[in-house]
Amino acid sequence: MTAKIHSLGGYIHEYQKSIANPEAFWAEVAEDFYWHKRCDKVLEWDFEGPSIKWFSGGKLNITENIFERNLYTIGNQPALIWEPNNPDEQSRTLTYSELYLEVNRFANSLKNLGVLKGDRVAIYMPMIPELTIAMLACARIGAIHSVVFAGFSAASLADRIIDAEAKIVLTADGGFRGEKITPLKNIVDEALQSCPGVETVIVYERTKSNIKMVEGRDIWWHKAIEGQSDECVAEEMDAEDNLFILYTSGSTGKPKGIVHTTAGYMVYSAYTFHNVFQYNAGDIYFCTADIGWITGHSYIVYGPLLNGAQTLMFEGIPTWPDAGRFWDIVDKYKVNQFYTAPTAIRSLLAMGMEHITNKDLSSLKVLGTVGEPINEEAWHWYHDHIGRNRCPIVDTWWQTETGGVMISPLPGIIPTKPSFATLPLPGIQPVIVNEVGKELTGNSVKGNLCMKFPWPGMARTIWGDHDRFRQTYFSTFRNMYFTGDGAQRDEDGYYRILGRVDDVINVSGHRLGTAEIENAINAHPLVNESAVVGYPHSIKGQGIYAFVVCGELSTGGEEGIRKSIKMAVTSMIGPFARPDLIQLVPGLPKTRSGKIMRRILRKVAEGDATNLGDITTLLDEDVVVKIIDGALVEV
Ligand code: WTA
Repeated sequence: MTAKIHSLGGYIHEYQKSIANPEAFWAEVAEDFYWHKRCDKVLEWDFEGPSIKWFSGGKLNITENIFERNLYTIGNQPALIWEPNNPDEQSRTLTYSELYLEVNRFANSLKNLGVLKGDRVAIYMPMIPELTIAMLACARIGAIHSVVFAGFSAASLADRIIDAEAKIVLTADGGFRGEKITPLKNIVDEALQSCPGVETVIVYERTKSNIKMVEGRDIWWHKAIEGQSDECVAEEMDAEDNLFILYTSGSTGKPKGIVHTTAGYMVYSAYTFHNVFQYNAGDIYFCTADIGWITGHSYIVYGPLLNGAQTLMFEGIPTWPDAGRFWDIVDKYKVNQFYTAPTAIRSLLAMGMEHITNKDLSSLKVLGTVGEPINEEAWHWYHDHIGRNRCPIVDTWWQTETGGVMISPLPGIIPTKPSFATLPLPGIQPVIVNEVGKELTGNSVKGNLCMKFPWPGMARTIWGDHDRFRQTYFSTFRNMYFTGDGAQRDEDGYYRILGRVDDVINVSGHRLGTAEIENAINAHPLVNESAVVGYPHSIKGQGIYAFVVCGELSTGGEEGIRKSIKMAVTSMIGPFARPDLIQLVPGLPKTRSGKIMRRILRKVAEGDATNLGDITTLLDEDVVVKIIDGALVEV
């Protein structure tokens, strides 16, 4: 890729260029790709509609830009390096040529099973190479993949399958995670009881678990690819054809199917990977995310592979067989760029130094973090003990909706500052606005983080609900994309992300809507109502604090009901959404018009009940006193 920035001067120059003439800037970046037909127009946009189109009229296929564009030069080089859950099991490496043939073969299998361009394919798979193969095979034939994180429950999987109207599901018998096996196929079976539209399930054999194959619906992966050709002509896609859907949480209960389209996402994920990680040919790059989240989509699969990089994919968890697993992997493969989440750093920090001191981490050049604000202690630990004071940390701020990194240091180029995402990448125009949408210009300001100009990687809509897309992101502040995050711009013009300003909480880097969790709790037969807020948690960043009103207690008493509420949340959403603290309360603080005053609950959960602000509009002040009395944190 030509558009690599090498110096601070280079960054400033590129940034200015990208703002002065965004169309010319992105047209130049797009030159590097292989198009059947170049675009007629680089950008058409309107944030009112909203309607955002990049590279209109362009024709291409993203997998040709991974494979055909690169095969002559790097065909024999590793594309995907896979480290299994169990360190004693053989790892796997697929070169670009090998991955290409596997993708083609599976693409033909999908076609053979009747999958057409535009069809939605739900993917519920563990972190194995076949997950990447499945995604790319969909892209090859123009089917829209919808990857569902393999930690979601049957109910959540069913919601997502139904919303996207997927008629085929790809899964595995099970997934290894440390000492446990996730029974993926059983969960799919349960989910499909409420998804009559699903005609086919393809099952990869991974754990050799005892599962039931449903006659006429289920087919083994190895049978599906049997006899399929390893040549598959790539479907010609329009620049704005949908590439994938990825569900994320919002402030209402229903998850949002964020839609990304082909050309803009391709250009943006590739450009950002190239610059943010300063990847050089031959480097080994390791992102610890799960492909079920956007980080895995953009920075395990698409970004690295579009750059011809060697991307390492890890099946297991950071703490098994012991808390040194990440560093073993870095040592084993001589990883050069390492990208993880603050929650992982905090939990490994707490495990002590003995897992690190005897590991060779000298190959590391760049360290990255993503998903939540990184506190200074974790930043310094990462910098000192993992980077050994040699590696710049890129604190990358972005979202499922942005498709790729938006605000981040460029390593070795933009000087870092602990807990600051620093400066916007070229093409990105952040603004900070106050509550009424007035832009706060100059430095040393704090407010809501918005974007005033489109970028190629931005989401185009919410699947099946364009109006929700408009309302969520484009109606709070006029003519701006609203991120839902608060941010500060300090005296140096550096950005620091302060966290969500809406009803979304960030638990171990998992984005969860409080309403989603409340819906799950409220479905419990003994619960009348509930309110969920986040509270500071030393490892998870934010923990989940649920205030619950019960009609009566069952025989198990308070403990029993807490347990059964946790079980209910696990089965409705997944174990990662389980409340950490459940306080049974006589009532919730409400205004006279019946609105729950979450502000008060947040204060209590933060352990700061001294300054509750104005509570005169409360219907029943006594409830607040009782809540404070029974608080599960020190107030
Ligand atoms: C938060 C993950 C602080 C933020 C790529 C955002 C961050 C949400 C950072 C998106 C960061 C992400 N510093 N906060 N470097 N990166 N966030 O959609 O609140 O899972 O809105 O995308 O994570 O989460 P999502």
